[in-house]
Amino acid sequence: IDIKTLRGATGGLTTIDPGYKNTGSCTSAITFLNGEEGILRYRGYSIEELADKADFLEVAYLLIFGELPTATQLEKFHNDIKAQSHVDEDVKKILDGFPKSAHPMGVLSSLTSALMAFNPSSVNVDSEEDMYNAIVKIMGKFPVLVAWALRKRTGQPLDYGDDNLGYVDNILKMMFKKANSEYKIDPVVSNALDKLLILHADHEQNCSTSTVRIVGSSHAGLFASLSAGINALWGPLHGGANQAVLEMLEAIKEDGGDTKKYMAKAKDKKDPFRLMGFGHRVYKNFDPRAKIIKVAADDVLGALGVEDPILDIAKGLEQEALNDPYFVDRKLYPNVDFYSGIIYRAMGIPTEMFTVMFALGRLPGWIAQWKEMRENKEPIGRPRQVYTGENHRAFKEVSER
Ligand code: ACO
Repeated sequence: IDIKTLRGATGGLTTIDPGYKNTGSCTSAITFLNGEEGILRYRGYSIEELADKADFLEVAYLLIFGELPTATQLEKFHNDIKAQSHVDEDVKKILDGFPKSAHPMGVLSSLTSALMAFNPSSVNVDSEEDMYNAIVKIMGKFPVLVAWALRKRTGQPLDYGDDNLGYVDNILKMMFKKANSEYKIDPVVSNALDKLLILHADHEQNCSTSTVRIVGSSHAGLFASLSAGINALWGPLHGGANQAVLEMLEAIKEDGGDTKKYMAKAKDKKDPFRLMGFGHRVYKNFDPRAKIIKVAADDVLGALGVEDPILDIAKGLEQEALNDPYFVDRKLYPNVDFYSGIIYRAMGIPTEMFTVMFALGRLPGWIAQWKEMRENKEPIGRPRQVYTGENHRAFKEVSER
């Protein structure tokens, strides 16, 4: 490669780092992650403490605005969100156009993108007030879209929320309330969802967050950037892994529960199969979120009186991996997605909705990262490449080719 082709835009050399394994794309004061020691902190607070003591809306505020809210700040934030929790009735027509079989992630990303068209003024975030308005707008409307994506799939009529409920309880009610019947919040389900959302709320420069930042760096609007992030999250190597894990565990169960057979498949380099929910780009010891979720899975299933044989299959796989040189040498441990689906399933959430639940949790992280990117006045994201194609060639008329 000619050294000239490596020259960067500012005169330095272009580095090639596929997958950005060693490349920082920005500076950030939001989330600290130490993959060797399994440490994750939002704005300096440990994930263990937040999952134990905070609620999701407090964590959302913390991520977005940098500090834990006072009671007054939290109340105002919640009220402002509630005031924005209606979605233009015409958005329902777009939803109507999707087949019932449409994957809810496709529905969610499309409707989030549509919100941009319905709220064109939200693209202006030059003042603090405009930024705040765009944030509460999406925090209010996103759960409605999530609930609608589920209700479309399950054939339930669309509904709005209940302003008397907390943020997470309201989401549960919007998702699960059946027509002409009461919906009673189960505190076990509500606490479990709150914890899961907190654990998913941010994870520094992962694939979807980097997408949100890079799309936003062109000064595309917040909702448009989020829609791109949702699509990035959908992939099975990222957020889509939670659905893939459950399908894999289910397949193992159907196949007689022979975990060793699937371990062998995962290690076979000729077989594209991977043990879904294992491995992480940054965590090379353990994923602290997976540790919390594993304990929560036992607690939640116990409290709900659910016995799910796939939980035992999951634990069996983890145990085998811990004693298998292939997994040990490559530092492959369960990630956040390995046990989360088992809890979602116990809560009555359909498998295809799992990644949507991830998106719901990640929303404040995406918003915080997007806001930081705009406030830091980051330049447009525009990576370079090293060209490896043909050199200069003379054009040939079609008759001569
Ligand atoms: N099963 C079997 N082997 C694996 C797995 C797995 N789940 N994950 C990685 N490996 C192997 C690779 O084959 C590779 O082996 P090699 O060195 O012999 O070639 C080695 O471990 C390193 O893997 P990479 O793919 O290079 O690691 P990378 O950091 O690029 O990928 C990823 C990380 C995408 C998470 C990967 O571990 C994976 O595909 N896991 C399964 C999907 C998953 O659970 N994704 C969710 C991640 S968490 C999140 O995004 C929310």
